[in-house]
Amino acid sequence: MVWKALVALAALADALPFSGEVSTRQGSVTMLRFGCAQVVIDRLDPLVNPGQIPSTHVHQIVGGNAFNASMTTSDVSNAASCTTCEFSEDFSNYWTANLYFKARNGTYKRVPQGGAANQFGDTFSTKIGGGILVYYVSAQPGKITAFKPGFRMLVGDPMERSRTGTTLKRQNCYRCYTGPNFGGDVSAPCQDNKIDTEAFPTAPCPGGIRSNIHFPTCWDGKNLDSPNHKDHVAYPVSGPATFLSLGGNCPSTHPVRIPQLMYEVVWDTTKFNNKAEWPTNGKQPFALSTGDETGYGQHADYVFGWKGNALQSAMDTSGCMGAKCAQLKTQTIEKAKACSVKKVVQEDQDGWLDKLPGIDMGGM
Ligand SMILES: *[C@@H]1O[C@H](CO)[C@@H](O)[C@H](O)[C@H]1NC(C)=O
Ligand SMILES: *[C@@H]1O[C@H](CO)[C@@H](O)[C@H](O)[C@H]1NC(C)=O
Repeated sequence: MVWKALVALAALADALPFSGEVSTRQGSVTMLRFGCAQVVIDRLDPLVNPGQIPSTHVHQIVGGNAFNASMTTSDVSNAASCTTCEFSEDFSNYWTANLYFKARNGTYKRVPQGGAANQFGDTFSTKIGGGILVYYVSAQPGKITAFKPGFRMLVGDPMERSRTGTTLKRQNCYRCYTGPNFGGDVSAPCQDNKIDTEAFPTAPCPGGIRSNIHFPTCWDGKNLDSPNHKDHVAYPVSGPATFLSLGGNCPSTHPVRIPQLMYEVVWDTTKFNNKAEWPTNGKQPFALSTGDETGYGQHADYVFGWKGNALQSAMDTSGCMGAKCAQLKTQTIEKAKACSVKKVVQEDQDGWLDKLPGIDMGGM
């Protein structure tokens, strides 16, 4: 995401009825924005299909090397010995669905993930090709409580294929970059439904497609997980989270404010923009690894794994911006990329595929 954080905050504050309150909050805004390179692409899902090898669909995974099919609820920062993230004390795992291009002849090819736009002088995140850009924001009013060891959650529904209502559901949206190198409108995501869409863009995007996924910002304060991996967290009562959740009050059932976690993925679709190769029925040609050709089923998973008190101390500090935070240690992109997890399910990852791994295409 390309934007000047404080300018955007001020702009957001201007748009809100209580800008007096917001300006006092601006003093304590911390926004971690950092890259995590790929740690593995595999058909595993320790949250939804624990212990199941292979799981139902392929994921793009970043973060610590303790990732496996059956991650326990204990402190994963003790199980990991390295991480692909810029903040070297972050052994969390972050994962999303992969994206595939479906050619006119019916075969699929994985769309690569690109690096992030250069912001705050952070060159690490521009080199994470294959990775995910991660945000933790503490701009909500009041005390922010960092996640605890063993905490995990899921956002989105992989089975969703349609959505009713005209208001943009702000937990998940797509941006079509209309020019090369993040060209076009680069403002904060999911603010309205003019720039961003809930479904995949319908026309070719010369600069690729950006996917932004916001996790809930309220926690029940007790459970590290829940049977559907969602019920222990909630969005603010004033509606789905905006990027900074400003003004969002937590419901009484989930009173504890947690950092606004957001993932940003940029799919480099540039090799797949030739409309002569797009479907003859006029539809867009991309599908998530779940078989979803709409984009509504985008989802993301999180397993907390920061070492000790590192994330809490960053959230308690005013002014940490991008990948610069006095409280946190960083590592080089070379060191991060040296960290990996051995792929468990041996499947062709980058060739032309007759079907998406694990997906019964007959039903699609
Ligand atoms: C997964 O990692 C945990 C430690 O986090 C370990 O106890 C377990 O044995 C591992 N499982 C597999 C299948 O490797
Ligand atoms: C299908 O189309 C793609 C893109 O045009 C091409 O690269 C691939 O070789 C084709 N596969 C088959 C089996 O024809």
